[in-house]
Amino acid sequence: MSYRLIRPLLFALDAERAHHLSLAALRMMPTAAALAPDPMLTTMVAGIRFPNPVGLAAGYDKDGRIAHKMHGFGFGFAELGTLTPLAQPGNPQPRLFRLVEDKAVINRFGFNNGGQGAAADRIARYRRPVGEGPVIGINIGANKDAAAAGRGIADYVMGVTCMAPLADYLTVNISSPNTPGLRALQDRSALDALLGAVMAARAPGGPPIFLKVAPDLEPADVEDIAAACIDHRVDALIVSNTTISRPALRSVHAGEAGGCRARR
Ligand SMILES: Cc1cc2nc3c(=O)[nH]c(=O)nc-3n(C[C@H](O)[C@H](O)[C@H](O)COP(=O)(O)O)c2cc1C
Repeated sequence: MSYRLIRPLLFALDAERAHHLSLAALRMMPTAAALAPDPMLTTMVAGIRFPNPVGLAAGYDKDGRIAHKMHGFGFGFAELGTLTPLAQPGNPQPRLFRLVEDKAVINRFGFNNGGQGAAADRIARYRRPVGEGPVIGINIGANKDAAAAGRGIADYVMGVTCMAPLADYLTVNISSPNTPGLRALQDRSALDALLGAVMAARAPGGPPIFLKVAPDLEPADVEDIAAACIDHRVDALIVSNTTISRPALRSVHAGEAGGCRARR
């Protein structure tokens, strides 16, 4: 069934409900074989061979339920998460808004997820040896109360320890606008401490580590982040998460708090 037919059905539903229904449908579908890779599209990043450069971004499959099936739809990789050490419910609903007139979406999920332990058990059941099968990235974050409890960096270290054996690459996500204090980790001294701890926690032979940043950065921040990544030998940057800016939106939901993703 084409997207043109399914779209009116999905758009008749609350946005988060539609999200969960699409995940449930994917869970029921058999895992299809990967499409034959086109050598023209093969992309090497940090030693990983991506069959093509189009991937499923973090946030759709937060708990790693269907990431391994996405290559059957033509994706070159899928990134699951964001996963936090402990399960947490995220922000109260509603927390996902369609801005239909603007072809945009605002979300403030707040890292709702079932926790890294449960996800690790699930992923281990379908995960092929790293380097074989579909490319799966795992995106890690901090629990909501971590920054206030002085545990921000420890949460990332825990994520590296728990998820590295299951990941083709790990994404250190310090870019969500929906977790208090998280983006403060993009400041130079905080970033140095975080990256030092994260890189030290990766065992020899562990997966490449990518850093995911916010788009709402001043030029000086960009320079600091680039310098920190070079100093700590971060393997790649993911640019970027959703924005907290609201460029000329018309929808009634334009004033909702959260990260905005508008079609360019
Ligand atoms: C509904 C929704 C939920 C998201 N959740 C996460 C998340 O949990 N972790 C994360 O790193 N990024 C999350 N993102 C950001 C996306 O992974 C992606 O970085 C962003 O949409 C920009 O990429 P794009 O330009 O390809 O859309 C979310 C985005 C949306 C729209």
